[in-house]
Amino acid sequence: MKDFSGKIAVITGGGTGMGRELARQLVAEGCNVAICDVSAETMAETKRLCENDRPPQGVRVTTHIADVSDETQILRFRDEVAEQQGTDKIHLLFNNAGIGGGGSMLTDTREQWEKTFNVCWGGVYLTTRAFLPMLQKASEAHIINTSSVNGFWASLGPNVPHTAYSAAKFAVKGFTEALINDLKINAPHIKCSVVMPGHIGTSIVSNSRKILTGAGDTLTPAEIERTRLRMSANGVDVAQLSDHDIQALWEERARRFQQEAPTTAGTAAAIILDGVKAGRWRILVGQDAHRLDEMVRRDPEHAYDSDFFESVVAEAGWRLGTGARGAGQR
Ligand SMILES: NC(=O)c1ccc[n+]([C@@H]2O[C@H](COP(=O)([O-])OP(=O)(O)OC[C@H]3O[C@@H](n4cnc5c(N)ncnc54)[C@H](O)[C@@H]3O)[C@@H](O)[C@H]2O)c1
Repeated sequence: MKDFSGKIAVITGGGTGMGRELARQLVAEGCNVAICDVSAETMAETKRLCENDRPPQGVRVTTHIADVSDETQILRFRDEVAEQQGTDKIHLLFNNAGIGGGGSMLTDTREQWEKTFNVCWGGVYLTTRAFLPMLQKASEAHIINTSSVNGFWASLGPNVPHTAYSAAKFAVKGFTEALINDLKINAPHIKCSVVMPGHIGTSIVSNSRKILTGAGDTLTPAEIERTRLRMSANGVDVAQLSDHDIQALWEERARRFQQEAPTTAGTAAAIILDGVKAGRWRILVGQDAHRLDEMVRRDPEHAYDSDFFESVVAEAGWRLGTGARGAGQR
């Protein structure tokens, strides 16, 4: 698809981060956009930003509350899109919504593990199924599934368990790669791409925590306790730290994740949209992602060893997981 003007795009998780930037850039190109998210407030801000950018006349931006891990909500989202966008077809589906969390099979709750897996994988699966008939009705269409570098490297570093997210992102990558032939055989006018971002500056760390705990900005006593246990296991003398210190460390980590990333959400969205226009099925986002991809292919057997991780930090400029001795993890 070379031109987004006049098309209709559905974006999951359009409230913040890459979803918001995708919406803004698509709208600026004259594409109608329907976004869903679990936060009405952040979606309202995305809509406001889209409208502030003075889009071409007549471009529609609709917002819809829906949790991608819940099929009933996704089917309602699809029906609202049909009604509010006045259409029986869509041209672009960005399965972008995702959260971190549920890192450990041993120390995280089953509920948290499954929530992360069901959002990151289940959301892609359910939303693709729900919107497939509308994609089939378009003259050309494209499904864009956001995986991660954790879709080919199941780690954030040797000190950080990262099972639910990695399992889900591998599933998204495998599904999308298998979909290439399914679509070629059965719906050749629909293309698909898997997006594998490296570290992108977004608020995913704080968003994920709030979604998983249902709590506000302040860590709950249970979270403080778990963070203490984790830090202690990593050799930090937590007796010296007050609860306030732990809260401050957490906030600093979320701030650094967003503000010190090598790639911004806006640049990531531009790379994704360029990849779609170029018809690429695999879209790596950021130099760190390209480098990591080369490194894992070159030496897969050692991909989870400490010295491999040290090379990732040195050669790919990777910063995540190095702060595991600090507060918490996603
Ligand atoms: N930021 C990174 O470094 C990075 C790296 C690799 C992959 N990713 C992936 O990119 C995608 C976008 O993440 P981001 O970094 O922009 O994060 P973000 O938190 O800024 O954006 C994700 C959005 O999805 C929404 N969301 C979460 N759960 C949802 C649900 N159940 N239903 C609907 N919406 C939901 C959130 O409210 C948020 O608005 C995710 O799939 C993430 O896993 C991010």
